[in-house]
Amino acid sequence: MSVSDLFKPLTFLHGSPMRNRFMMAPLTSQQSDFDGTASQYDQFWMEQLAQSGYGLIQTSASTVEAGAIAFERQLGIHSDKHLPGLTKIATAIRKGGALSAVQLHHAGHRAVLSLGGIPAPASGKTLKNVKALSTEGVERVRDSFIEAAKRAKLAGFDGVSVHGAFGWILSEFLSPNLNDRTDKYGGNVENRARFTMEVIEGIRKACGSDFQIGWRLSIERYGLRLEELREITAAIFDKQLIDYLDLALWDSAQLVREGSFQGKTMLSVFTELPRKGVRLGAAGKIMSAQRAGELLDEGCDFVLIARAGILQRDFPLQVKANPMYDSPQLPVTADFLREGGLSERFIETMRGWQTFVKPGS
Ligand SMILES: Cc1cc2nc3c(=O)[nH]c(=O)nc-3n(C[C@H](O)[C@H](O)[C@H](O)COP(=O)(O)O)c2cc1C
Repeated sequence: MSVSDLFKPLTFLHGSPMRNRFMMAPLTSQQSDFDGTASQYDQFWMEQLAQSGYGLIQTSASTVEAGAIAFERQLGIHSDKHLPGLTKIATAIRKGGALSAVQLHHAGHRAVLSLGGIPAPASGKTLKNVKALSTEGVERVRDSFIEAAKRAKLAGFDGVSVHGAFGWILSEFLSPNLNDRTDKYGGNVENRARFTMEVIEGIRKACGSDFQIGWRLSIERYGLRLEELREITAAIFDKQLIDYLDLALWDSAQLVREGSFQGKTMLSVFTELPRKGVRLGAAGKIMSAQRAGELLDEGCDFVLIARAGILQRDFPLQVKANPMYDSPQLPVTADFLREGGLSERFIETMRGWQTFVKPGS
């Protein structure tokens, strides 16, 4: 396969096809208003992305409840007051020719009290003096995910991406280390996956057959077990519950270090599964045209661009113009990001990412 294959369209089980294989990964830029409303900075960033040649653009992690918050100035989708801002974003993305998805997020036990977050652990042992979410509490959060998806549809998004990565609530429930529940949401792997399944199935039921559902999954840390995640993914593929799996790797070439898949790439553990028309993409250090092309050879249907897109907004257009395109070397100066159109708030966020912004610049 060659880099030019990245520009072939991709159909999904539901909704419209993606015009190419580039998906903008979710990026929390912490530039929304304090109540989660999309700010002028969010609008500007999304308008830039909309003109950058992506096939699908995901928003940053958006809170499905006010208490779900993990980051200051995080985007919200938990109230109808967020609709006008979200509608403007969806409209700008559509105008630019890409598909759009809101990433639905709940921070679980890592919800931040000082920001109005209400920590919601799967287990009573995770946080001192904080009880595990009750069964009714889990059902309430599930319904909040579904309500948020309905809002995304109302705002004109093509779909949602369900955040099941990085130890946030759905990932937390999947983990045998963080979930010691004895109700229907804990115990065996089927029970630990029930929360995720009910969210996905509920969204499909509420939002209909034209709406796209993505699921973001990470593998490392939080006590997650690769063998179990593979089993859950196989069931989700087999039942065709989602349109795309977004594998959130930190390095798309990462090898499995232990267990039955030791020595294989983490990616291959999932690309080997029968997909039944569900599409699979991966994130993780995709910084060049060649690496993006290679991932199609490794079995991906599409690639997710994150840091490379912050460095150079129109990564897909750069790749189109130059099949040998490579991202600028890190770290870069704040001025470089400023000239590229990044807001001061977003630059401040990027200062928190090791080796991204040159210190003192
Ligand atoms: C500034 C920044 C914000 C991020 N915000 C989110 C987010 O809101 N949701 C999410 O699932 N991942 C988030 N990520 C992870 C990225 O989507 C991506 O998976 C990760 O950065 C690896 O891809 P990369 O090597 O191309 O950067 C974020 C990453 C960065 C650098």
